[in-house]
Amino acid sequence: MAVATVYHQGWTLDEISWRMFDASSVDPTMLAAIKAAALVEYNAPDYVTYLKRVFSDSPPETLTWIERWGTEESQHGKALGRWAEMADPSFKLDEAFARFRKGYKPAHFGEAGTESVRGSKRGEMIARCVVESGTSSYYAAIRDATDEPVLKEVAGRISSDEYRHYKLFYEVLQNQNEPELSFLKRLWVAVGRVNESNDDELAYAYYCANVPVTEEIAKPYNRKLYSRLAARTGMTIYRRRHIRKLVQMVAKAVGADPHGRLADWGEVILWYLMQRKAAAA
Ligand SMILES: [Fe+2]
Ligand SMILES: [Fe+2]
Repeated sequence: MAVATVYHQGWTLDEISWRMFDASSVDPTMLAAIKAAALVEYNAPDYVTYLKRVFSDSPPETLTWIERWGTEESQHGKALGRWAEMADPSFKLDEAFARFRKGYKPAHFGEAGTESVRGSKRGEMIARCVVESGTSSYYAAIRDATDEPVLKEVAGRISSDEYRHYKLFYEVLQNQNEPELSFLKRLWVAVGRVNESNDDELAYAYYCANVPVTEEIAKPYNRKLYSRLAARTGMTIYRRRHIRKLVQMVAKAVGADPHGRLADWGEVILWYLMQRKAAAA
């Protein structure tokens, strides 16, 4: 199966140099963001179930790769969670995750249908490519921004995994025998997925990861506030090169020239928006 050509064995938690951990290099804002990211990554099994339902009539290899992908995403959650537990011994991944699970249930995970919420399998894969473009550049930005050696290593490994996931979903996208979507439709799906980044998922993960249960009553969940806090690190750690890479990956996924004018403009606009958000955060 062609998909296998982009997929190699990953890494294990035991391969990380945990002993290199340097508590004095931990930045509190980064730590808060890592805790939130750990919860989102750790929630992958639900998405595996959904994707397997949508791709149930695909070759068995595709379903195997979806499962392997989910295992890797969960491992990202474990690695980030373990790092956060070292940086803040009061943080417990399992406890924070249990709270997150209880309160966050996206609509499409609960449905029994085999339809993609993106309208088609191609749309689903474009949306996945957008997410993997985002995570790959996010972890690259973290790797480049942090001075803490273990986080640098973990973020570097995760960023490479996310890039591999992007290539996997890009290949699944190319292998679909559904009719091709129009360029506008592809762009619409991609922009729609980027917009969804503002939904509850990250904001609520940030809340569960950073507000202890004992403070829940004093500090109730407020989507706008926690969404802004969750975005704060992201907006400030990105460098222009990370945004360029992100936009090029998304451009390729929608079938545009990654080095063409659309990608150039996309980069300028996204960079401008992020600078503005960073200034407001
Ligand atoms: Fe991940
Ligand atoms: Fe990924």
